[in-house]
Amino acid sequence: MFDVSEVRKDFPMLQNKMMQNHPLVYLDNGATTFKPQSVIDAVTGYYTTTSCNIHRGDYDLSFQISSEYENARKSVAQFLNAEAKEIVFTSGATASLNQIAYGYGLKHLQKGDVILTTEAEHASSILPWFKVVEQTGAVIEYIELTEKGELSVENVRKALHEKVKVVVFAAVSNVLGFKNPVKEITRLAHELGAVVVCDGAQWVPHVKTDVKDLDVDFMVFSAHKCCGPTGIGVLYGKYDLLEDMEPVVYGGGANARFDACGNILLKHAPAKFEAGTPAIEAALGLKAAVEYLQKLDMDNIEAYEADLKRYAIEKLKELDHLMIYNAEASTGIIAFNVKDVFAQDAASYLNSQGIAVRAGNHCAKILVQHLKTSETIRASFYFYNTKEDVDRFVEACKNITVENCVGLFF
Ligand SMILES: Cc1ncc(COP(=O)(O)O)c(C=O)c1O
Repeated sequence: MFDVSEVRKDFPMLQNKMMQNHPLVYLDNGATTFKPQSVIDAVTGYYTTTSCNIHRGDYDLSFQISSEYENARKSVAQFLNAEAKEIVFTSGATASLNQIAYGYGLKHLQKGDVILTTEAEHASSILPWFKVVEQTGAVIEYIELTEKGELSVENVRKALHEKVKVVVFAAVSNVLGFKNPVKEITRLAHELGAVVVCDGAQWVPHVKTDVKDLDVDFMVFSAHKCCGPTGIGVLYGKYDLLEDMEPVVYGGGANARFDACGNILLKHAPAKFEAGTPAIEAALGLKAAVEYLQKLDMDNIEAYEADLKRYAIEKLKELDHLMIYNAEASTGIIAFNVKDVFAQDAASYLNSQGIAVRAGNHCAKILVQHLKTSETIRASFYFYNTKEDVDRFVEACKNITVENCVGLFF
């Protein structure tokens, strides 16, 4: 196991950062994460030493940066246990999910086909499929969630039938943090010939990912949620499926040739999905991020966060005025509310104590209906959070009352 006090030294944002005159306790890692110095150096290193375009120039500097960019792809492939040609760089998980829905869904789905998903999905995962439904006549069906909002293998089995062509779900829910049984769901979907699209935005940063073992057809994530830069994400796809998918964006670098009649010969994947100049510096930053995570070891990260979550839940359970929605979820997300206090007001109170959390529906607008609340407060940990952070958070939670929240505004 790593030494968290040593780990924290790698993050400039964790060095004496204050918020509202308190040392910052950052518990919004589900939204985005801080970057270690090695990632920052990789990004700035591009601008200071190798700042030119990839796959275009006929000079040494361009050859060098092209090969560094492709090395980033190899590092991500190794991180996921995939092959480099199966890794497409996009601008983020949202772009990856849109590419799959429009590129695969529009091409392959027909009237009456079923896209099976859950009510817990993030808008970026589900909205593109709503648009596919409009254009193809396919329909969306929902796998029933358990009362607690979990995705059970049993309910997946019940929901699957021969018209299901695509199964779309988050490996970890961004609201409740339940770790879904990805491998079992994928096996069941494959028995009926359905393609599995797995939203790994909240899984890949926290859990060791082996796409070959999970056998998912597509898996996506954003670099910024796992210590990498914003502006870059990953679309993993089995190579045959990538070759069979249409790009959403067309342009330079993605075609082998085209003519005046509009005939386009695309390059093979992944190049055919990467038209235009990509976020080169972000790819180098992502490489540094996955290398950083691998050094800490993803199994250590998962175990550390689970321990932090257990520690927090034990303490929070003692507070009668808190309603916790996901005490059993093993990842580092805590979804809760405070009796008689609006989630936003509670988050503002925590802010006044130097604690950063998020309140709202977390882009999962259907799930909140299932939870019978319009909003929740989400505290989300990463491996650089400490038990001291949790103690500060719990102490502040003790004092979230209507009076204290009103006091913020008057
Ligand atoms: C489960 C899930 N899917 C997709 C996304 C979209 O990620 P991004 O905004 O980085 O594209 C998020 C972001 O919060 C998420 O939590």
